[in-house]
Amino acid sequence: MEFSHVPVMLGEAIEALDIKPDGVYADCTTGGGGHSLEIARRLTDGGHLYCLDQDEEAVEAFTKRLEPFSDRFTPIRRNFADVGEIFRDIMLDGALMDLGVSSHQIDDAGRGFSYMQNAPLDMRMDRSRSLTAADIVNGYDERRLADVIFRWGEEKYSRVIAAAIVKARAEAPVETTQRLADIIASAVPKNYREAGGHPAKRTFQALRIETNGEIDIIDPSIRAIVDRLKPGGRIAVITFHSLEDRAVKRAFASLSKGCTCPPDFPVCVCGKKPKIKVFKDVTPSEGELASNPRAHSARLRYAERTAD
Ligand SMILES: C[S@@+](CC[C@H](N)C(=O)[O-])C[C@H]1O[C@@H](n2cnc3c(N)ncnc32)[C@H](O)[C@@H]1O
Ligand SMILES: [Zn+2]
Repeated sequence: MEFSHVPVMLGEAIEALDIKPDGVYADCTTGGGGHSLEIARRLTDGGHLYCLDQDEEAVEAFTKRLEPFSDRFTPIRRNFADVGEIFRDIMLDGALMDLGVSSHQIDDAGRGFSYMQNAPLDMRMDRSRSLTAADIVNGYDERRLADVIFRWGEEKYSRVIAAAIVKARAEAPVETTQRLADIIASAVPKNYREAGGHPAKRTFQALRIETNGEIDIIDPSIRAIVDRLKPGGRIAVITFHSLEDRAVKRAFASLSKGCTCPPDFPVCVCGKKPKIKVFKDVTPSEGELASNPRAHSARLRYAERTAD
């Protein structure tokens, strides 16, 4: 299957990174390589791009696509949660995170991300990890399952859905996307089913986030990246829903504030200085919104490392 993914906010992300031809860059979520290709094109001999992705298939695909730039890029199959370790001895001029899943992962029926195609309930971006969506659906107790669906799916019928799953799995384990989507559709009220949007959408998002531990790693990963940026270096993050965006916004706010003393302290005793200057966030242009439905909820936040 061809690795197809139209990069979101491509021009805006490249502009935010303010690429220096001889700079050192990291694409933390390289996917199909759309953003990386544009970064690599702007680098000369002195410049270098490190391309990360936790998905083996993505690494294979972008390594092929970036072949013309093989003298200036290094593919790395790792989770970006490990950036501190990966770049222990390397300082960066910029880093990009384009969060979430790629269209390729969603469209590849065998991966189990989509409620539109029947497949085993897998949802792992990194298939060397052991926890699958099926393990969560069949293994978590009802309360924990409802909490996951509520927290990561912001699903108001989380308890009803969790109860229906627990009842169904008592008969036989829920192992496919189709069976799970059917259980959800028959559990929620009829008017919710007809309200537009698939009734399983939020639960599937929640299971994907839980399977891949997506939200909890955002804050520590941003902090680790900022610590590896040279003064003047840029970090740019593209998010696709409010949970991701909130995590990025909070991490940026905290890093730009510096001082962590309690508000009732008369003077600062922690001595922490702001590490970044945050720019105004950006949303996709009208043109992009009209041509790429995936851009619909995208937002780009970016910041610059201050001098120590
Ligand atoms: C939205 S896509 C990126 C698309 C890419 N910018 C492009 O233009 O083709 C997100 C990619 O990041 C990867 N990914 C998500 N979370 C990751 C993590 N924690 N560590 C490494 N890769 C991750 C996914 O496997 C997926 O390939
Ligand atoms: Zn302080």
